[in-house]
Amino acid sequence: MFVALAAAAALASTAYAQSLNLSSSCQSTLGSIATGPDGTCLNAAGLVTFATVNSNSSLITPLNSWLTGMCSQSQCSNQTLANIVSNITSGCSSDLSSLGFSSSSTSTVVSDVQQFYPTVREIVCLKNTTSNNLCATDLLTDVQNSVGTLSQNNLQQIVVSIIGGSQTLESVLNSASCSDCFKAAYNVINTNFPSLMTSAERSNFTSTCGANFTNGQNPSTVSQTAAGLSSANGSTSGALAAFPVTSLALALSALASAFAFFA
Ligand SMILES: *[C@@H]1O[C@H](CO)[C@@H](O)[C@H](O)[C@H]1NC(C)=O
Ligand SMILES: *[C@@H]1O[C@H](CO)[C@@H](O)[C@H](O)[C@H]1NC(C)=O
Ligand SMILES: *[C@@H]1O[C@H](CO)[C@@H](O)[C@H](O)[C@H]1NC(C)=O
Ligand SMILES: *[C@@H]1O[C@H](CO)[C@@H](O)[C@H](O)[C@H]1NC(C)=O
Ligand SMILES: *[C@@H]1O[C@H](CO)[C@@H](O)[C@H](O)[C@H]1NC(C)=O
Ligand SMILES: *[C@@H]1O[C@H](CO)[C@@H](O)[C@H](O)[C@H]1NC(C)=O
Ligand SMILES: *[C@@H]1O[C@H](CO)[C@@H](O)[C@H](O)[C@H]1NC(C)=O
Repeated sequence: MFVALAAAAALASTAYAQSLNLSSSCQSTLGSIATGPDGTCLNAAGLVTFATVNSNSSLITPLNSWLTGMCSQSQCSNQTLANIVSNITSGCSSDLSSLGFSSSSTSTVVSDVQQFYPTVREIVCLKNTTSNNLCATDLLTDVQNSVGTLSQNNLQQIVVSIIGGSQTLESVLNSASCSDCFKAAYNVINTNFPSLMTSAERSNFTSTCGANFTNGQNPSTVSQTAAGLSSANGSTSGALAAFPVTSLALALSALASAFAFFA
């Protein structure tokens, strides 16, 4: 799970670096999504705040305002997600092909995004009611305090050192991994994808974080801020063979490209 996320983050940051040089058709595609109705549920227009950030300044504040705005929007419909993904994969095809993406994968990416987006949205919209910040923002702030400013100019270098096995980062993540925020995220994943985690992984969490971590109760110190959340819950059936790293990475890459476009 964490390995999959790390791999996705690595790919996304590579895309981020490359995307400082987006093709013009990709730029206009992203621009029309940001200004069009399909972008509203992702608060795509909020990505414009990234334009005001100096390349040496932290990206956490604009990221936090973008996420906060996104959480207050209703959930994207499957149709909207399909429009966004297919617009990006066609408008940005030359940019994405340099990441190994072929447009024949579009329908797979669409259905993976449709399947995982509600869960990702629920997780990034979790809020620490003590600090009154999004859990993601608090976590990134802790990461930044240990590895240095998460700025556009530093990002790639930081990711490279993370892939090389940064011990400072590992200790931040280890100390965060049994927190109430992670417990709430763990509950979201287990509720939406009951078969994603193996029983060995579950008992690993129990032995690392204590029996309360896996008791399924939502911690009172964490609240859900995603608008209209009830519709996102429940509807889960399938056994997932594997977490779709490629699709997640492409989704993150597209997002990262959008950041860079507006930066
Ligand atoms: C930017 O993209 C163009 C066309 O794809 C390419 O020729 C050029 O080398 C790229 N520049 C950089 C700095 O990557
Ligand atoms: C970012 O920092 C570098 C090194 O300190 C400096 O050379 C550069 O001018 C700064 N860029 C901006 C946009 O402030
Ligand atoms: C882009 O999305 C719009 C809906 O917003 C849709 O009508 C159009 O067909 C899409 N374009 C492509 C190339 O997928
Ligand atoms: C959206 O699509 C996914 C897979 O493509 C499906 O599992 C899910 O049930 C759909 N959601 C709705 C609300 O139709
Ligand atoms: C929530 O915020 C408080 C106050 O800043 C902090 O002490 C606590 O560690 C945070 N909890 C999580 C799960 O991050
Ligand atoms: C359990 O955790 C340890 C380290 O914390 C890890 O090396 C091991 O692979 C994990 N086992 C499973 C089944 O996830
Ligand atoms: C586990 O949860 C119970 C009730 O929810 C609580 O009384 C107990 O103190 C918790 N144990 C730990 C180690 O947090």
